[in-house]
Amino acid sequence: MTGKWTVTTRSAEETRALGATLGSLLQGGDVILLSGHLGAGKTTLTQGIAEGMGVRAYTKSPSFVLVNEYRQGRIPLYHMDFYRIEDPNEAWDLGIEDYLRGPGVLVAEWAERALSAFPPDCLRVSLAWVSEGERTLAFTAEGPRSADVLKHLREAWGRGG
Ligand SMILES: Nc1ncnc2c1ncn2[C@@H]1O[C@H](COP(=O)(O)OP(=O)(O)OP(=O)(O)O)[C@@H](O)[C@H]1O
Ligand SMILES: [Mg+2]
Repeated sequence: MTGKWTVTTRSAEETRALGATLGSLLQGGDVILLSGHLGAGKTTLTQGIAEGMGVRAYTKSPSFVLVNEYRQGRIPLYHMDFYRIEDPNEAWDLGIEDYLRGPGVLVAEWAERALSAFPPDCLRVSLAWVSEGERTLAFTAEGPRSADVLKHLREAWGRGG
């Protein structure tokens, strides 16, 4: 089972709110892969996901360290950024397998640079700039678990976030 859903947000706050709704639905082992140009809103969405998982610390892009771990929430959040990766194999060097086996949720920016490292059942989000304050977020569920998450996200968002 797969699924697709595209939504347009009209401010960074709205993207954060969508992320928070998504974050509240996530369980250990879930993998969210984010793609989109610089400034598309990947980190903004991740800040919302963190908030929805109960992480209070400020979530910034981990561009220089590749991975930030947040353990203050309901379950751990591993926030990765592959912008600086030169070879997909670096994802393995990072110990990505251990993160995938761990109890937390993995969110990866610039995930398309390390796609081979992720399990098949992921929720992909492709973010695109529309105008100064608008972004489209195209969700694709790649397997049964991510399809279930996406279904619940659509329902929750349809009721007003
Ligand atoms: N609807 C919107 N959704 C998300 N961000 C928005 C929106 N409208 C404006 N913005 C602004 O766009 C910028 C998005 O930056 P953000 O760091 O989230 O992008 P990014 O995709 O993580 O970029 P990078 O690849 O550099 O890490 C922020 O300055 C945010 O305030
Ligand atoms: Mg970012």
